[in-house]
Amino acid sequence: MQTTLSGQRILLGISGGIAAYKSADLIRRLKERGAEVRVILTEGGSHFITPLTLQALSGNPVSSSLLDPAAEAAMGHIELAKWASCILIAPASADLIARLAHGLANDLLTTCVLASAAPVLVAPAMNQQMYKNSATKHNIATLKERNFHIAGPAAGEQACGDVGPGRMLEPLELVAALEQLQSPRLPALSGKTLLITAGPTREAIDPVRFLSNHSSGKMGFALAEAAVKAGAKVQLVTGPVNLATPAGVERIDVQSAQQMHAAVLQRANAADIFIGCAAVADYRVAEVAGQKMKKTSSNELTLTLVKNPDIIADVAALKYQRPFTVGFAAETENLASYAKDKLQRKKLDLICANDVSKPEQGFHSEDNAITAYWQDGELALPRQPKTALAAAILELITQRIQHQQPLR
Ligand code: PMT
Repeated sequence: MQTTLSGQRILLGISGGIAAYKSADLIRRLKERGAEVRVILTEGGSHFITPLTLQALSGNPVSSSLLDPAAEAAMGHIELAKWASCILIAPASADLIARLAHGLANDLLTTCVLASAAPVLVAPAMNQQMYKNSATKHNIATLKERNFHIAGPAAGEQACGDVGPGRMLEPLELVAALEQLQSPRLPALSGKTLLITAGPTREAIDPVRFLSNHSSGKMGFALAEAAVKAGAKVQLVTGPVNLATPAGVERIDVQSAQQMHAAVLQRANAADIFIGCAAVADYRVAEVAGQKMKKTSSNELTLTLVKNPDIIADVAALKYQRPFTVGFAAETENLASYAKDKLQRKKLDLICANDVSKPEQGFHSEDNAITAYWQDGELALPRQPKTALAAAILELITQRIQHQQPLR
């Protein structure tokens, strides 16, 4: 499988910290995606993980010392620095970050960083107090000024028992951050704000039951991930789904259509583009029972439903600061005519119609296919992984926006 990391030559620097154990899994994840990995293990890092483990996983000898004649004869430090298409330092200790910020070259890793023109992604990992120290903050700010990319840290419980920011990001989050570095950006989306909805809504019947649908959130999450990779700022309003938040995405969790409506309308004015990918329940139960409803002797139960607000129609109807508004139409028949009707009725700029009657696409599956409709045109995007389809949809959106008017 071709990925954005296929063929990339990643020089992984591992410095001293308990998070070094995660680097073993990180190597596996990078290799799975077709990247070639070479490791530099610092003196500090070697106290937490062995070169043998890293060599076995990366399939390459591990470099440690600047002054090792054997290693230099195999691949010298300048050669190693030139070999890398990207340098990833994970974990990056406070000490290493300080040395990088000062441009030191007092070990193999810092020397390679100085001697390389490749982008550098740094994943800080340290005690929360060390991270909060103004010296560390200043060093990280210096690295950012010099175009180093910083991923994390995450906050939470630390190995030392403290709680706070300083945990290294998980391997998959670091992979996503690397992929983002490698992906071609869509200039039209760079710096723009995208507001996206995903997943189903749940409409309560009583405290233990609800009405919902089969949306997994995969399509909406793929759009959010692709938009971040394209350089956009992304807010993702999602119904209940079982998916990890893509790196760099701001996630807002909601349950019901009314909650989704409020969360979206609160943010819509500030968005340049709104994509309504959520499968929003059109109706909710008129009166939610306060207690669990009991079975009665009757064979029938009647629930009275009332209409939910139409989120996307309300966004499209905004008089001021209206975002470019893109809907989805999930249909089981008459795909084109139903989708075109929604495009007109909800006053959308674009609608992506998907046939959800096919088991291999639409709800829950990894793949999807859409036909996009706009005022005077249409485009069919064939079945493909939702991740790839998301990127193609974003490209189409940028084309349509450029055709209409510049984004504000
Ligand atoms: O989540 P997955 O498992 O990956 O599946 C993806 C998907 C099939 C859910 C997705 O591709 C999709 O089609 N989403 C829209 C589903 C839907 O609700 O379609 P609709 O035809 O009922 O609604 C049309 C549009 O109006 C949609 O943009 C919807 O978000 C929006 N809507 C609908 C009702 C409502 N009350 N408010 C809305 O904003």
